[in-house]
Amino acid sequence: MNGAWSWYVIVLTVANMVGILWLLLATAAKPKNDKPAAESMGHVWDGDIEELNNPLPRWWFGLFILTFIFGIAYLVFYPGMGNFAGTLGWTSDRQVQENLDANQARLESLYAGFRGKSLSALAADPAATKVGRNVFANNCAACHGSDARGAKGYPNLVDSDWLYGGEPETVLASIMNGRNGLMPPMGATLPGNGVAEVTQYTLSLSGLEHDSKLAAAGKAKFESICAACHGADGKGNHALGAPNLTDGIWLHGEGTAQGVSNIILHGVGGVMPAWGPIIGEDRARLAAAWILAQATAATESEREDAAHSGASP
Ligand code: HEC
Ligand code: HEC
Repeated sequence: MNGAWSWYVIVLTVANMVGILWLLLATAAKPKNDKPAAESMGHVWDGDIEELNNPLPRWWFGLFILTFIFGIAYLVFYPGMGNFAGTLGWTSDRQVQENLDANQARLESLYAGFRGKSLSALAADPAATKVGRNVFANNCAACHGSDARGAKGYPNLVDSDWLYGGEPETVLASIMNGRNGLMPPMGATLPGNGVAEVTQYTLSLSGLEHDSKLAAAGKAKFESICAACHGADGKGNHALGAPNLTDGIWLHGEGTAQGVSNIILHGVGGVMPAWGPIIGEDRARLAAAWILAQATAATESEREDAAHSGASP
């Protein structure tokens, strides 16, 4: 604010304060003794409710004076009078910074207790996974879902199927450094009926309905072209983030001939941002611990289901 605006604000504020005080004192004047206590203002409602010009009650007047004094004190202590900063030196920036510092100090002592523990130990510690769950909800749920079960293009993090591997340190590396899985368009390498053949072979890998003649023709092509990333058996490659194509779990939608041939023709990819620089290692480790705890629980129940279906004929 330049000097002129500052003075403009000061003059307006002072004029207002003086005006209010004058109004207050003028209307609070006691009725003169020779006048009747309360004159009628000539307004009558509902037959007998009459507006009188009684002076303000004393307590009401007292309150007005108190708020007036409060207003003056406020303008002395806090900024309000143009460029005058107030005697306390308060600024909203400083208050925000103080709040942030206090919060940081509180979190620092919380995280300090988890530092130096292994990821597996954290995953088994409910106090750690509780914080990790909040970190996940605040930073990761937008893409992976609040239950971490993912969506089309965003992997489910709580099943036993990993693009990059589910070892604790690998999960942490995915979070800290991000991931960038990329399959280039492969149409050009599959002339003639190649795309249709490889598509049918890919469907056969996870036991989906397929044309066995086309699939048989596609096998050799898969092994020479796709195996470089997905492996000769189609079980994927954690180093490249190439998904397992035999498990019936589809990152990019359901396994249909249309869906698979689109992926072969146009390629596909996914970007996981690097979270290390954004949330720091303490939070990343707690989020990893929560994911690992969920994934372990999910894997156990998968195993139970498998045992169950194995037991019944
Ligand atoms: C902008 C969307 C987005 C956000 C936000 C996000 N992720 Fe991801 N994440 C992805 C995508 C996409 C992939 C798969 C990358 C690929 O296809 O190569 C992924 C992959 C991963 C993987 C590897 C999964 C595997 O199967 O190997 C982990 C672990 C992971 N994310 C954890 C997290 C955590 C923890 C957070 C929060 C700190 C987070 N993600 C936030 C999009 C996101
Ligand atoms: C250069 C390595 C590479 C090659 C070669 C490659 N892929 Fe991929 N493929 C990937 C990666 C990486 C992904 C996962 C992309 C992502 O992160 O979203 C993928 C994803 C897929 C998917 C989607 C899987 C899902 O779960 O939704 C299919 C289907 C697929 N590939 C089939 C093929 C076939 C068939 C070929 C051969 C014609 C092939 N790929 C060749 C790397 C490759």
